[in-house]
Amino acid sequence: MNADATIVVIGGSSGIGLAVARRSLADGAAVVIAGRSQHRLDAARAELARAEPARAGLARTGADAGRLSAYPADIGDLAQVTRLFERVGTLSRLPAGRLGRPGDIANAVAFLIADDFVTGTVLHAEGAQILV
Ligand SMILES: NC(=O)c1ccc[n+]([C@@H]2O[C@H](COP(=O)([O-])OP(=O)(O)OC[C@H]3O[C@@H](n4cnc5c(N)ncnc54)[C@H](OP(=O)(O)O)[C@@H]3O)[C@@H](O)[C@H]2O)c1
Repeated sequence: MNADATIVVIGGSSGIGLAVARRSLADGAAVVIAGRSQHRLDAARAELARAEPARAGLARTGADAGRLSAYPADIGDLAQVTRLFERVGTLSRLPAGRLGRPGDIANAVAFLIADDFVTGTVLHAEGAQILV
């Protein structure tokens, strides 16, 4: 894994997401976990700090200064998800500079159902990241 990687795990306070966060920390990435419940985030952060104390940085600093941070966000709320990625600082790295909107997907659907020569079944709706 790229040492500069920042892995944002929405749903990282439990189950599969927590396992992804733990593995990513062990592999050297900076990890941001997000979920709706602050209580669950706090518990997950403590668990990750116990499992990966050197990587998480929490055992040394007792603060958010390590490679692990946690922010509350509901993935069903675009404003909260936008705020999350603004805080993490990754939104500005997208060439489009923003998250996707429903109209972006409508454009992709219009392409897929067009009666034209060029067709496709896989489109990357990811803010033009694939171009850089
Ligand atoms: N296909 C399969 O074989 C298979 C196997 C296992 C699991 N799954 C599915 O995979 C998913 C994850 O399973 P899991 O066992 O890891 O579940 P889990 O332990 O319940 O974890 C769900 C995580 O997502 C977060 N979350 C839920 N709703 C959210 C929302 N609206 N916004 C942000 N975060 C949200 C939860 O935190 P908060 O509640 O605090 O938000 C929690 O961190 C589930 O949908 C499950 O059904 C599929």
